[in-house]
Amino acid sequence: MTFEDLPTAWQGFLQACNSCKNCDLHQSRDQVVVYRGSLAAPLMIIGEGPGREEDKLGKPFVGRSGRLLDDALLALEFSEEDFHICNIVKCRPPENRTPTEEEAKACRRLLNAQFALVKPRVILLCGSTAYRYFTGSKEPISRVRGQWIEQKSFYIMPTFHPAYILRNMSKRAELWSDLLAVREKLVELGFKAPLSKPLCPEKDQA
Ligand code: URA
Repeated sequence: MTFEDLPTAWQGFLQACNSCKNCDLHQSRDQVVVYRGSLAAPLMIIGEGPGREEDKLGKPFVGRSGRLLDDALLALEFSEEDFHICNIVKCRPPENRTPTEEEAKACRRLLNAQFALVKPRVILLCGSTAYRYFTGSKEPISRVRGQWIEQKSFYIMPTFHPAYILRNMSKRAELWSDLLAVREKLVELGFKAPLSKPLCPEKDQA
């Protein structure tokens, strides 16, 4: 979809993102990384911040960890209409460092505006940084992953970051289990049909 084809509210939002100088990250960015997937989606997937590939291409999760995430989403029969992928911060932190609390705070107004446009019912928080900055809790991700947090009319599922899974393949089953729980929640809420065939974990996760 070209910029002109976007709804007016989205055009205004993207302009606000592209001209944002709310923190110092704007100085070193190549591109502001806002989203990929559907404009309105029942599922919002939130990562930490853009890496080198994302900064270059202007889309979130397009590097190695994005491929791992996409493979799992595909195997679980998610389609692009089902999700909207974004990050806690929209500009790449230098050297891929973790965004600071100030940077996350500076970006929160835009994330809130994005949330209001997308209107998700289910939120998948990928990794400890997304979990901490989105919920304000400092609990370790290993303790909270896989457990639903219910808030007003939406459901939050914290899980491991795909980049962590790339470094710790033994934790892959946990990510898959959390994604499956998300999928089942979307079925329960009437947004998705059940899986067309049972998952075969050994084969799909090999
Ligand atoms: N890691 C993230 O958290 N987000 C991206 O967009 C890419 C890698």
